[in-house]
Amino acid sequence: MDLNGAAAIISGGASGLGEATARDLASHGATVVIADLNEERGKAIADELGGVFAKCDVSDEEQVQAAVDAAVATGKPLRVVVNSAGIGWASRTVGRDGKPHDLATYRKVIEVNLVGTFNLLRIGAAAIAKTEPIDGDGQRGVVINTASVAALEGQTGQIAYSASKGGIVGMTVPAARDLAAIGVRVNTICPGIIDTPIYGFSANADEFKAKLVAPVVFPKRMGQPSEFAHLVRSLIENDYMNAEVIRFDGGIRFQPK
Ligand SMILES: NC(=O)c1ccc[n+]([C@@H]2O[C@H](COP(=O)([O-])OP(=O)(O)OC[C@H]3O[C@@H](n4cnc5c(N)ncnc54)[C@H](O)[C@@H]3O)[C@@H](O)[C@H]2O)c1
Repeated sequence: MDLNGAAAIISGGASGLGEATARDLASHGATVVIADLNEERGKAIADELGGVFAKCDVSDEEQVQAAVDAAVATGKPLRVVVNSAGIGWASRTVGRDGKPHDLATYRKVIEVNLVGTFNLLRIGAAAIAKTEPIDGDGQRGVVINTASVAALEGQTGQIAYSASKGGIVGMTVPAARDLAAIGVRVNTICPGIIDTPIYGFSANADEFKAKLVAPVVFPKRMGQPSEFAHLVRSLIENDYMNAEVIRFDGGIRFQPK
């Protein structure tokens, strides 16, 4: 699918993987809509890319509907939805102090990462369905979700995060089947360790990142957000990629800790 002249909405587009994706898609002719909680950065990036910023919490129905409406209002047909908003959390099922995992935090991680992804997927796809097909296959658009290798081999303390990302992996095939009728493909990327602000910027963060990189097979480094964005674009541009869950991780296989 050609990005030129299309609108693309990117949740989490104000930072990290979403920001890199917004930059890449804009440089290939898309009008980008950055849907994020972070107004200051989101607006600055949207202005720089000639796109639109829509402040939204992905788990909120009305705010996501407004963000998708903003994409439709660009006047370019909405063809791409990229789900990249997400939050991390670390807590054991039963802590060292004997206390069970806090339920409110578990719910929050599921709400943002899993419900938020489904929320933009469903509202975005409904808007894509109103556009004209663009080829002989009847294609209208593409949805790319961001899960994590933690969906497949979550480490100690990743119970909430892994459950949320596992849900995204699980929805990939049924979403692709549901949306086939309207000519929309759905793919999910499972990143490994990619160098973004999600790990923070302190001296501790550098130490933590060095530890995370140890099990990477090759190349022996963190992934770059621009490499993730390249994969997103490849999945959009290659019309035969559908209902697929793809590891993007330099061969890493996480150990329990
Ligand atoms: N960086 C990695 O190594 C890595 C690995 C695996 C998966 N991921 C996933 O990739 C996605 C992007 O991560 P990143 O590293 O770019 O993180 P990041 O923290 O740099 O960016 C996340 C963005 O999401 C936004 N956001 C958070 N909650 C939101 C909400 N409720 N509504 C709207 N926007 C919200 C934040 O404001 C931020 O701009 C996340 O889903 C994350 O779980 C990242």
